[in-house]
Amino acid sequence: MLRFICLFLLYSGAIAELPCTVMPGKLKQLDAGNGEVYGVADNDTIYLWHANQWARIEGRLIHVTVGPAGVWGVNKENYIYRLNNFNWIQVSGRLKQIDAGGNKFLSGANSNDDIYCLNQDATTSPATSLPYVQIDGKLKHYACGPFGCWGVNSANEIYYRNQVTPNACHGTSWTRVDGSLIMVEVGTDGSVFGVNADGSVYKRVGICPKNPRGTSWIQIDVCNGFKYVSHDSGFLWLISHNGNVFRCEYADSMLSDLL
Ligand SMILES: *[C@@H]1O[C@H](CO)[C@@H](O)[C@H](O)[C@H]1NC(C)=O
Repeated sequence: MLRFICLFLLYSGAIAELPCTVMPGKLKQLDAGNGEVYGVADNDTIYLWHANQWARIEGRLIHVTVGPAGVWGVNKENYIYRLNNFNWIQVSGRLKQIDAGGNKFLSGANSNDDIYCLNQDATTSPATSLPYVQIDGKLKHYACGPFGCWGVNSANEIYYRNQVTPNACHGTSWTRVDGSLIMVEVGTDGSVFGVNADGSVYKRVGICPKNPRGTSWIQIDVCNGFKYVSHDSGFLWLISHNGNVFRCEYADSMLSDLL
């Protein structure tokens, strides 16, 4: 594996040299959460990062997610699957994007950009017919974490959903957040990262329980050209425009944001 130093801006404005590794293989999407990383390739094959390499898992998906609610994915017809003992079990509903980052609840968007969530009592039951809750509005990507839910719409506007709880995942209202992103992901630790249309990677700073929307976006990459970002366990996982996967040590924790 190729190791190199990539320059990243820290929230303080200083430039840090972060050790990055180019991972083997190419992916179109990945998700890091709960200490695990799953990804899908252009041909929809599915991989788990395990023992320092990608291990292929059965099935074909266009989008996969891992988090406190488990491992879920959607296929090219947008049917939804849940991983159970390394078997994909189809559940009801159709989504193009799904996120398991909330506190054992799910969020996602369908092909019409309609927005859905699934409460914790549903994701923790073995049922396959699931009571999805539709949320007003339109988003192409909707992801949740311990301090709330974030989405982007087809115009790349960013929205935060207020008052989401694990068993009231519907929340109450949208608040528009400054900036423009093509996707935004929330880490299991509450960190929020996104990518804009130019391929630059941004981190939301100032997030804390009292101020879950944070204060501002900071661009953290100097060598831009990315289409997807996910963050977990001190690593930033990035997919470049041509599908190469980068893993960078990015230990900037919630705590350092608060200090
Ligand atoms: C799918 O793509 C992956 C990654 O590019 C490649 O390693 C694999 O051989 C392909 N598999 C099939 C079944 O096409």
